[in-house]
Amino acid sequence: MKNNHSSPILLLILSFVLLSFIKCKEEKYKNVQPLENTWDFAIPNQELPEGIASLSAKQCGVCHQTHYNEWKLSTHANAWTDKQFQAELKKETSPFMCINCHIPLQNQQEYIIKGLVDGDIYQPVKELNPEFDEELQQEGINCASCHVRDGAIIGPTGTKKAPHKTIKDTKHLSENLCIGCHNAVAVITPDLVCSFETGDEWKEGPYYGKKDCKICHMEPINREIVSGYGERLSHLHYFAGSGIPKVDTLKTKMLNGLEVYPSEIKKNISVKDSVRFSLKVKNEHAGHRVPTGDPERFFLITFQLKNKQGEIISEKTDRIGEQWEWHPKAQKLSDNNLFPNEERTFDFSYSPSEKGTYTLQVEVTKHRLSQEHANYNKLGKEYPLSISIFEENYIYTIK
Ligand code: HEC
Ligand code: HEC
Ligand code: HEC
Ligand code: HEC
Ligand code: HEC
Repeated sequence: MKNNHSSPILLLILSFVLLSFIKCKEEKYKNVQPLENTWDFAIPNQELPEGIASLSAKQCGVCHQTHYNEWKLSTHANAWTDKQFQAELKKETSPFMCINCHIPLQNQQEYIIKGLVDGDIYQPVKELNPEFDEELQQEGINCASCHVRDGAIIGPTGTKKAPHKTIKDTKHLSENLCIGCHNAVAVITPDLVCSFETGDEWKEGPYYGKKDCKICHMEPINREIVSGYGERLSHLHYFAGSGIPKVDTLKTKMLNGLEVYPSEIKKNISVKDSVRFSLKVKNEHAGHRVPTGDPERFFLITFQLKNKQGEIISEKTDRIGEQWEWHPKAQKLSDNNLFPNEERTFDFSYSPSEKGTYTLQVEVTKHRLSQEHANYNKLGKEYPLSISIFEENYIYTIK
């Protein structure tokens, strides 16, 4: 450069352009208000930890094959691609922060949200994210979502055997990580509320301080975490839950919270008597209520009494779950979810008027959402709505 002094005219023009740019920006951002809730934010863009070629689960899976294969079957791996989630996300009523627990890393999100215009959740100020990676987005809650922070892999031991930068942080990898997403109670708009209370249910229940989320959902096991490195303490990564699969071809691992106890039956009864049956269900295995989390979950206990021709002559259905009214204002109408160790007995009784052989079919099913809501979201047949966890036929002879 010949001259170190810039021309005063150029400076003037430059500062004018700059000033009007700032002014323009100020005007645009005039009423922008900061975000408040924890789930309003993504986890900031993460740099690649030393020794790692990509943040994708696929990449981790090159070495951690068993963890990858287990995680791949989990609901976490489907938290973005899930049809119901995608259907709900497309609705105008779904605000920007819906994605923050389903694709929690900023690297998985197309935009960085800077604030809200006039504090309106439907008017976020967006900037294109230069670090956006579509492959990571498809993976939903992937390995990096839980394990990568501040340019390092967070692990339980901080082992020096790993080829990647590893930091020990057992506080981060505790139940707090789970509760960060599995407990959200907030009224977002009058007809949109978050009501996931799994963390609170656990804290208020008998397992608190004894068994945490990981013991039941990430069962400990001794095994190699990378082939050839020798066995060590490890944890299953299926994150097994209700077991209702997201796609009919996916074999998710299932946990059952309920134990089912059928009553003794009297097989031969007189016409003056009735067919009687009772089913006791007890929440014996879950560390929180059953169902928990999404308020749309429910269980049905159905009794169907059929005659010899297979015609249903009497039926009864009981329900365990919450009932909500969403419009015009979201409010919980009822809630009979079972607390840990709580039991409930469901009775059936009927007096057939004719002698003969009768079959009582008893079934317990767990449901992700109702058929009505599935139709509303246009979810096809390949989206399973329920699974059966108990089914039995009892024969009665009426003399
Ligand atoms: C090139 C192979 C390789 C890749 C790729 C790899 N790891 Fe590892 N990782 C290892 C080895 C080797 C160990 C140590 C094995 C041992 O302790 O037995 C390890 C250990 C770990 C641990 C345990 C750390 C601790 O504190 O005990 C975690 C967690 C982990 N890796 C997560 C990841 C994640 C997440 C990814 C992807 C972002 C990943 N790894 C990618 C090879 C790899
Ligand atoms: C970044 C947020 C996030 C974190 C952290 C997280 N989860 Fe999840 N989890 C989710 C979301 C979202 C789903 C549901 C995905 C869907 O249905 O599409 C889910 C689903 C599940 C399910 C399956 C529910 C079912 O039956 O369908 C279980 C079980 C579960 N998580 C347990 C855990 C445990 C245990 C931890 C802690 C080790 C944890 N989660 C950490 C967000 C998270
Ligand atoms: C004592 C074991 C135990 C503990 C502790 C526990 N869970 Fe569960 N959890 C279960 C069982 C069993 C089920 C299956 C319930 C069913 O569908 O019958 C379940 C189901 C779930 C589901 C699926 C939702 C549903 O309605 O089926 C989620 C999500 C979940 N647990 C998250 C958590 C989180 C988060 C924690 C910690 C705050 C936790 N769990 C603690 C045993 C446990
Ligand atoms: C929802 C959060 C979550 C996700 C997703 C997740 N992990 Fe983990 N992972 C944990 C927690 C929590 C622990 C620590 C368990 C402990 O030691 O208490 C752990 C432990 C590990 C360990 C140490 C050995 C072991 O099994 O305890 C490895 C290796 C590991 N994870 C790899 C992976 C890989 C690879 C993926 C993706 C395929 C993955 N994790 C996905 C939460 C997660
Ligand atoms: C605070 C974290 C968080 C936020 C924010 C969040 N979700 Fe979720 N979402 C979850 C968790 C956790 C689950 C799993 C619940 C369970 O199975 O117990 C889930 C499950 C779902 C499911 C699957 C339901 C099922 O039965 O499996 C849908 C659909 C969904 N969320 C849509 C949304 C929409 C739409 C928004 C925005 C209005 C949103 N989520 C915001 C944490 C969150």
